[in-house]
Amino acid sequence: MPKPNLTHRSWAEPYKIKVVEPVRMTTREYRERAIAEAGYNTFLLRSDDVYIDLLTDSGTNAMSDRQWAGMMIGDEAYAGSRSFYHLEETIRRFYGYQHVVPTHQGRGAEHIISQILIRPGDIIPGNMYFTTTRVHQELAGGKFVDVIIPEAHEPASEHPFKGNVDLGKLEEVLRSNPGRVPYVSVAATVNMAGGQPISLANLRAVRDLTRRHGVLLILDATRVAENAYFNQQRECAWPIARIVHEICSLTDGCTMSAKKDPLANIGGFLALNDEGIAEKARNMVVIYEGLHTYGGMSGRDMEAVAIGIEESVSDEHMHARIGQVQYLGEKLHRWGIPIVLPIGGHGVFLDARAFLPNVAQELCPAQSLAAAIYTDSGVRSMERGIVSAGRDPETGEEHKPRLELVRLAIPRRVYTQAHMDVTAESILSVYTERDRIGGLKFVHEPKYLRFFQARFAPVPVAKEEAAEKRTSPLTVL
Ligand code: F0G
Repeated sequence: MPKPNLTHRSWAEPYKIKVVEPVRMTTREYRERAIAEAGYNTFLLRSDDVYIDLLTDSGTNAMSDRQWAGMMIGDEAYAGSRSFYHLEETIRRFYGYQHVVPTHQGRGAEHIISQILIRPGDIIPGNMYFTTTRVHQELAGGKFVDVIIPEAHEPASEHPFKGNVDLGKLEEVLRSNPGRVPYVSVAATVNMAGGQPISLANLRAVRDLTRRHGVLLILDATRVAENAYFNQQRECAWPIARIVHEICSLTDGCTMSAKKDPLANIGGFLALNDEGIAEKARNMVVIYEGLHTYGGMSGRDMEAVAIGIEESVSDEHMHARIGQVQYLGEKLHRWGIPIVLPIGGHGVFLDARAFLPNVAQELCPAQSLAAAIYTDSGVRSMERGIVSAGRDPETGEEHKPRLELVRLAIPRRVYTQAHMDVTAESILSVYTERDRIGGLKFVHEPKYLRFFQARFAPVPVAKEEAAEKRTSPLTVL
């Protein structure tokens, strides 16, 4: 027997489990049918048919006993709810913004800020697009311009802050479009780049630039505490709570999806420092979301979000949260499976171009890989490639992103290390059989955010190739 290594100490989650929810394993034949019925789109599967659900970390968090207790004392008053004031006070304390406009979720806040600040023809630079953020900018008449550093588009680049803004590019956009840039949009972390962080140093430089050009800086704070964890590990050793506050203080306001970092199942808000903009937002929220003291959330939701915000900035929580993501990513990386490096904050992103080099981008390799993983084990993941990127609203042409990824997003506090092992082993199994996987083509393409509801059909590959390869619904006939 090998001697135990006495210098190694494992870490564990800073909680124990009080309630469990059964999950269901199915047969391969069952899953083949389920994914075909879902049009090879993992968004269209029934969750009852999913074994380990890594579709998203959004709204899928396990709440703490304190959050559940908060649900019981939520104040459901239509106006002036005590729970709103608790939320407002929490946001002021942890993020530092003065004015809070609650919304039903993140995109509600994106809608309001886009309608207030963007005029037709405006340009909004940002560190890579996010699907809902960009569509709201476009619906308000604006055009998103990507100013993220080039390393963000390279899955194998190990730059520690792939969410950084390319300052030269941003300055150029600001200089050549005077009066046409209402604000710069900065996300922490950057979802579409693989959950990659922006550095404090870079954010300070962006702040200086926007000040000099008299342009607002709006943060997408959806995963700001995860960003702060990376800042703490790679840049400065402050507590996460202090870094979160610092990031927010460098910006003029934020949109927030409380379904991610704040550990809730629903909710969001727009937070601002400028009273004039906040007044406009309070005016708009009553049209689209609800009164300015609930904005689409119930009182109990606002309690859960307020308590979740406080829990989300704990160093112990974040160590375990990102530690679990790293555990899965390191395992896959050790086995030689191509993933985005460094491993991101909210999930592990498979590099579908490298995984399936024989599937052309037009045949949606990441969509195809997500369907293959589901078929193998019931693990549900999500495409983040050409399907998510959609079309240019002016030309109708498909965006062809350099990143063609499958995201394994890890819900917070939901799964165990054993679930991560099962997931990793399934991906290894799909990797060893990757030659069997063919492409997919659209059979139904919705106009907006097409990835949510699109349907696909398998595409036959060339005859001589197909002859050598076995058939499966995902592959090829
Ligand atoms: N910003 C980012 C960076 C996001 O990841 C999301 C949602 C939103 C805004 C919109 O927030 O869903 O509350 O309206 N991302 C989810 C995901 C859908 O799976 O990554 P929402």
